[in-house]
Amino acid sequence: MAKTKTKFVCQECGYESPKWMGKCPGCNNWNSLVEEREVKGVKAMSHGGSGPARSARAQKIMDLEGKDQPRINTEFMELNRVLGGGLVPGSLNLVGGDPGIGKSTLLLQVSHQIARQGHKVLYISGEESTRQIKLRADRLNIRDDNLYVLAETNVEFIEEQIRDLSPSLVIVDSIQTVFHPEIVSAPGSVAQVRESTSHFMRISKGQGISIVIVGHVTKQGSIAGPRLLEHMVDAVLYFEGERHHAYRILRSVKNRFGSTNEIGIFEMGEKGLREVINPSELFLSERSKGAAGSTVVASMEGTRPVLVELQALITPTSYGTPRRMATGVDHNRIALLMAVLEKRVGLLLQNQDAYVNVAGGVRLDEPAIDLAIAVSIASSFRDKPTRHHDVVIGEVGLTGEVRGVSRIEQRVTEARKLGFKRAIIPAKNMHGWDVPDGIEIVGVQTVEDALHEAIG
Ligand code: TYD
Ligand code: MG
Repeated sequence: MAKTKTKFVCQECGYESPKWMGKCPGCNNWNSLVEEREVKGVKAMSHGGSGPARSARAQKIMDLEGKDQPRINTEFMELNRVLGGGLVPGSLNLVGGDPGIGKSTLLLQVSHQIARQGHKVLYISGEESTRQIKLRADRLNIRDDNLYVLAETNVEFIEEQIRDLSPSLVIVDSIQTVFHPEIVSAPGSVAQVRESTSHFMRISKGQGISIVIVGHVTKQGSIAGPRLLEHMVDAVLYFEGERHHAYRILRSVKNRFGSTNEIGIFEMGEKGLREVINPSELFLSERSKGAAGSTVVASMEGTRPVLVELQALITPTSYGTPRRMATGVDHNRIALLMAVLEKRVGLLLQNQDAYVNVAGGVRLDEPAIDLAIAVSIASSFRDKPTRHHDVVIGEVGLTGEVRGVSRIEQRVTEARKLGFKRAIIPAKNMHGWDVPDGIEIVGVQTVEDALHEAIG
């Protein structure tokens, strides 16, 4: 049996100490010492004596087996897409989010949906008792022969149970509650979170089990145990949303098996989470007709076009420096677009406050939304409404030129599907694709052209 002991290692300079210290004597940084587990005798055990370690042999890439393993269908199309086509067997995934956002609900529903296909699923909770889980399961109408529940926080006991049961999927809710008995620091500390995660990594890779770890997000917005979880796992998904809104967005920020541009949209209801298949309808549902400062854009969220309303409110600054506030879009982008409108179109915006908002609580970060922001700002400033059936697409350059965007056909087709009659698009995107019937396209060269078309 390997003998273990812990030591404290400075994360900045690597200084080692047998006990914890607030300040590292090596590099004088504060609070940089973190407990680590030292495993003695591993070398001798695994390599059978002295001499160089025997390691894997280099192989020709042609000879490697690269069969694509079938993925596990979670039965949530939104989640499957964010994962890149379903859950990869033997992968380690992290689902992060604020407490109370719905992580446990989502994963219990996913467990049910996977268990009913005949896969064995083990749901481990360190936060709730089995009775609480049962109550939630009843509320969600979940009863499955293949779904097992375990209220345990010691990773060694958890490993034993996983070995006995050999499930296809394990949910660990949450990483902040589990602990390794050989680490003295409290559950949720950096050392515990790291040690437990590497434990789960060994289990998932060694036994080919998919593991989903839940991680609560700290106030600074990182998963506790600063980012250290993110590079250990295969995929990191964040579950976001306003607690007061029913909508929840699942976003991937890292994915070894798919793209990180995808988002999945869910709605929290009485009976748990429901997927939102057509988000454009949702984002446009509360739009008011004929209001100045509102423009609709077709933005690409990964492979899917989403129609979103961009709102701007421009009011004279009462005193001091003008305010520039943005929710859902980059604040610097607003400043840049206002400067372009001022210099190239001649709108006097320097003594105006600007508030720009993406309706519905989504975050957009592609340049194709520039033109719609500019139109909204000008529309609010001049107090002239945009046309209700227009959608505006285009990137804006510093000279006021409108630049081409990718996937114009998909964007315009989505707008057409939702009943939009006209699309104002970059002149460069006018040719080379099939315009769907029932929508008119107008090409514009400059922001000024676009304003002329949109608000006259
Ligand atoms: P939960 O999944 O416990 O959040 P997390 O695990 O991220 O901390 O979700 C808790 C919230 O969801 C709670 O405020 C109640 C609400 N909820 C519903 O609105 N409907 C439901 O069917 C369920 C199960 C929860
Ligand atoms: Mg929970």
